[in-house]
Amino acid sequence: MIGKLNHVAIAVNDLDAAVSLYRDTLGAKVSEAVDQPDHGVVTVFVELPGTKIELLYPLGDNSPIKGFLEKNKSGGIHHICYEVDNIHVARDKLLADGMRILGSGEPRIGAHGKPILFLHPKDFLGTLVELEEI
Ligand code: CO
Repeated sequence: MIGKLNHVAIAVNDLDAAVSLYRDTLGAKVSEAVDQPDHGVVTVFVELPGTKIELLYPLGDNSPIKGFLEKNKSGGIHHICYEVDNIHVARDKLLADGMRILGSGEPRIGAHGKPILFLHPKDFLGTLVELEEI
């Protein structure tokens, strides 16, 4: 069902330092920072051959990554994102298997303009999993 690893998202407490680390120290191609008010984050994409790293920085008081960063002062891996061909088919299969979908269970439009869902970390080896329809 799942396809390519689309991205690994890393929540950071210092976006400029994170950008510098990936761009200057690791020599990667790094996008501009983009505010994502619908998601309560600022995103920067690090382009790697075949996949991406998504740097996440909190935006606004109710950012969904605020609690994560309070617990993880140095930042940390927040979620991984797998591609799926059809997000509704994927969701129905997961629900039939007893997996939990976060939120309403309806796909919403993610940071790349494509439909996404998040799966409960307790059902996926302690890892927050995002599915994105490609
Ligand atoms: Co993501």
